[in-house]
Amino acid sequence: MTRQHQRDEQLVTQDQRYFAGAGRLPFFNLVVDHGLGAELWDVDGNHYIDLLASVSAVNVGHSRPEVVQAIKQQADQLVHYISGYFYHQPEIELAERLAKLAPGTASKKVSFSTSGSEAAEGLIKFARAYTKRPIILSFSNSWHGTTLGAATLSAISPNMHRKMGPLLPDVYHVHFPNAYRDQLPNESTAAFAKRSFYEFKQLFERDLPVEEVAAIIIEPIQGDAGIVAPPKAYLQSLANFCRQNGIMFAVDEINQGLGRSGTYWSIDHYGIVPDLLATGKSLASGMPLSAVIGRSEIMDSLPAPANATTTAANPICCAAALATLDVIDQEKLVTKSKIDGQYAADKWRALQQKYPLIGDVRCIGLNAGIELVTDRQTKQPAVNAAQTIIRDCFEHGVLMITGLDHILRFQPPLVITRAQLDQAFTVIDQAFKRY
Ligand SMILES: Cc1ncc(COP(=O)(O)O)c(C=O)c1O
Repeated sequence: MTRQHQRDEQLVTQDQRYFAGAGRLPFFNLVVDHGLGAELWDVDGNHYIDLLASVSAVNVGHSRPEVVQAIKQQADQLVHYISGYFYHQPEIELAERLAKLAPGTASKKVSFSTSGSEAAEGLIKFARAYTKRPIILSFSNSWHGTTLGAATLSAISPNMHRKMGPLLPDVYHVHFPNAYRDQLPNESTAAFAKRSFYEFKQLFERDLPVEEVAAIIIEPIQGDAGIVAPPKAYLQSLANFCRQNGIMFAVDEINQGLGRSGTYWSIDHYGIVPDLLATGKSLASGMPLSAVIGRSEIMDSLPAPANATTTAANPICCAAALATLDVIDQEKLVTKSKIDGQYAADKWRALQQKYPLIGDVRCIGLNAGIELVTDRQTKQPAVNAAQTIIRDCFEHGVLMITGLDHILRFQPPLVITRAQLDQAFTVIDQAFKRY
């Protein structure tokens, strides 16, 4: 049965008249009306299984009742008061909880903002203040946000920099090792990690004074780039290099944290304790809240009001976050992400056996990048195929988008059921077949 999108189309036409294009990467004319768990409905009543979770911003599912209840209760009590001058209990409770949740046993403190982008900016500010050094290193294909500093860190699309320079000075991009693209045919993972680290160190031979580097800011698993994890030994070498040279090792967990990758934080895969960590997105189930968590002495290096904003740590957002963290614990969503992630990985690998279009399957928790290529030898990105397949899925009630135009992005709410996963994979299989 063909789906009707009359109301969707009307509203999108209205939107295009007034909503500035800089804020949207349009995939489909889908006007979301309501959602529950891993399901969504549009304004025409069409039903979807959501394999995107609002780009990993609703790990506990849409309109999770406990989160909704916490929001309503807090709204009745107090909608907002600036946390920069006075205090409120949801913020006090959440700061303690986050300080204890971040990896490592050292005493930690938390600084709140509203968006992930601001938290990424916070990483820069705290690292520079603590080390009294200017240089920041981030990575190719990274996405850290779109405020000016976060956009400077990012290196995934020229449109994040175009027409808005000069950007932040002293930010340099390092190549992010990607085994599928960069590992040589007969090279072991250990050798690949070693070579990648050697290439990283070359930067300090001819270009940058190492003693002027404040921080390395990295997504331990890149999200927007298509779920790419560097070799474990490479990241460990980077972290050691930071320790040896007084550089802050700062991780962006905004996309991959809070159970997404099958561990609480994606850095847990590497056994590294970072100096600074940024979280956001799913922290308050998509309500505007983000945080930088770091060792107390680092977080104490900036004086007020260096990282205060009027709406940071809004009480409703903090209440939503506390309820979200409870759900993650009570439903054991980190373990579920790992187990169901394995289930999904098997499904993706079965599809890879069937369709030569699938060049690489990278599944880490309920979190996958499925790289489509026109030819497995040349690994030429199959952009048209990827766009056709996600549109076919959309038309058959499964919501998925692409990263880098040719990588299917699979990040369902962690509460997705096996039945929903099976249903989604049936639709995906048919979409490949039709293509
Ligand atoms: C890894 C990462 N960091 C930072 C951000 C920026 O977060 P926000 O869009 O909330 O500003 C994103 C958003 O996609 C992200 O994926």
